[in-house]
Amino acid sequence: MGWEALENECKSCHKCALGDTRTNCVFGTGSRTAELMFVGEAPGEQEDLSGTPFVGRAGKLLDQFLDAVDIPREKVYIANILKCRPPQNRDPSPAEEEACIGYLYEQMRLIRPKVIVCLGRIAAMKLIKPDFRITKEHGEWFLKGDHLMTAVYHPAYLLRDPRKKEDMLTDMKRLRAKLDEMN
Ligand code: URA
Repeated sequence: MGWEALENECKSCHKCALGDTRTNCVFGTGSRTAELMFVGEAPGEQEDLSGTPFVGRAGKLLDQFLDAVDIPREKVYIANILKCRPPQNRDPSPAEEEACIGYLYEQMRLIRPKVIVCLGRIAAMKLIKPDFRITKEHGEWFLKGDHLMTAVYHPAYLLRDPRKKEDMLTDMKRLRAKLDEMN
C-alpha cells in the first residue's frame, strides 16, 4: 500500500471505538524518507484537535530535546502506536493497540528508518518487548528485524518528574552519536 491509500484508510478507520470519539485521526508527520522515527503512545487533546502528533506541552518539551542535539523536527518522522485519542488520555487497551498497530507497521515499511526511538513505556512494550522496563532499559539499543531501536522517557513523564530530564539528555546525546556513527 502507498502513502495516500494508507492515510485515507487510517482517517476513515473504525476498527475500534476510538474512531467514534476522535476529532481527528493523528496519522503522523515529518519526512517520509527519515532515517529516524519517533513513536509515541497516543494522541492527547491538542493532537486530537490539530491532527498532528506531539504539539501539546509534551510535544514542546520533545522539541526542546531535539533542538538540544541538533535534530531538526522536519527531518524525522513522528507517529504514535494509536492514531486516535483515548478518552481522558487513558492508556491504550490491548485491543485498541492490535486494531491500530498495522498502520504503524506500514509506516515503518514505507519509511524504512535506520533508527526507531520509542517515546515511553507503552511504545517500548509494543515495539521492543512486552516486558520492557523503561527506568532500567531506557537508552539501551535493541536490534529488531531491520530496525535499530531504543526507548527514552516519554516527555509527558518528564513534565511530571523533571529530575529525569538529565537522563533524557544523556539518551538523546547517545542517539545523536549513534546517528553520526551510522553516517
Ligand atoms: N503523547 C503521545 O504519546 N503522543 C502524542 O502525539 C502526544 C502526546
